[in-house]
Amino acid sequence: MARRLYLKFKSLMPEPLRDMLSFFNQHLFARWTIRKKLGLWFEVDFRKKCQTFTPQDWKKHYEACWQHTTNPCINKGDFRRIRDAIGQPCSVLDIGCGTGQLALSLAQAGFRVTALDLSINALRLARNHIAQIDVNIPLVESFAEHLPFPSSAFDCITCCHTLEHVSDLDRTVAEFKRVAKEKIVILVPKQKYRLYAENYHTYFFNSSEQLIDAFKLKQFKCVELDGDREDSAYPSPMLMYVGTLHKHRSA
Ligand SMILES: C[S@@+](CC[C@H](N)C(=O)[O-])C[C@H]1O[C@@H](n2cnc3c(N)ncnc32)[C@H](O)[C@@H]1O
Repeated sequence: MARRLYLKFKSLMPEPLRDMLSFFNQHLFARWTIRKKLGLWFEVDFRKKCQTFTPQDWKKHYEACWQHTTNPCINKGDFRRIRDAIGQPCSVLDIGCGTGQLALSLAQAGFRVTALDLSINALRLARNHIAQIDVNIPLVESFAEHLPFPSSAFDCITCCHTLEHVSDLDRTVAEFKRVAKEKIVILVPKQKYRLYAENYHTYFFNSSEQLIDAFKLKQFKCVELDGDREDSAYPSPMLMYVGTLHKHRSA
């Protein structure tokens, strides 16, 4: 509640004032606030250090993350938006599946879903959720930058609150375009660069153009979802990108 009010208050400020507030917050309070909020396990300097990380280092950080949280970033409103964006049930690869709620919701709606994440702890949480209902969702431990699937293996790729976490955006986008046959659906927070990591973000998408430019697809829709949505787990503004590829869909 307090966070929503703070964000509302901030959104009413003129942009230069908002930037100034963020600047002071980042430099004076962020490290302290993050440590207090998240505990010493959290690597506040992640963003500075990650340039030299090995894949094992990346994994280690996300395994720690998923030992301390079980919260998804999306919920019912986003599930509906994503289902509407995909259209007819088809095969879907959900990348950065976290606790598996989107995969589960799509499977329940008749989609053939595979879920992928680099974290074994996240996949364990996903397995527990999936076990509650009678659906088959293969879970794959892998990096978005190296998808272990042949080209055009899935009709659609979904990737929510994960593109901003990858180590190599160009490589990830190239993999998405290789493995998807028809659509790529992306949700990312709309945000400016932040110095200290509260959430291991490595890329920051502050406008639709950045996503459009990253994917370079001729056919796409990109909309901004404002921060006042009551139907979303993530209360700040988000960008939703739906890119269409022109390959053939499987029967
Ligand atoms: C913020 S969580 C979002 C989880 C879920 N999609 C949701 O919306 O609730 C980001 C997820 O992406 C995973 N992840 C981060 N970087 C990744 C990468 N390079 N390849 C695959 N998964 C990654 C993390 O383990 C984490 O589960």
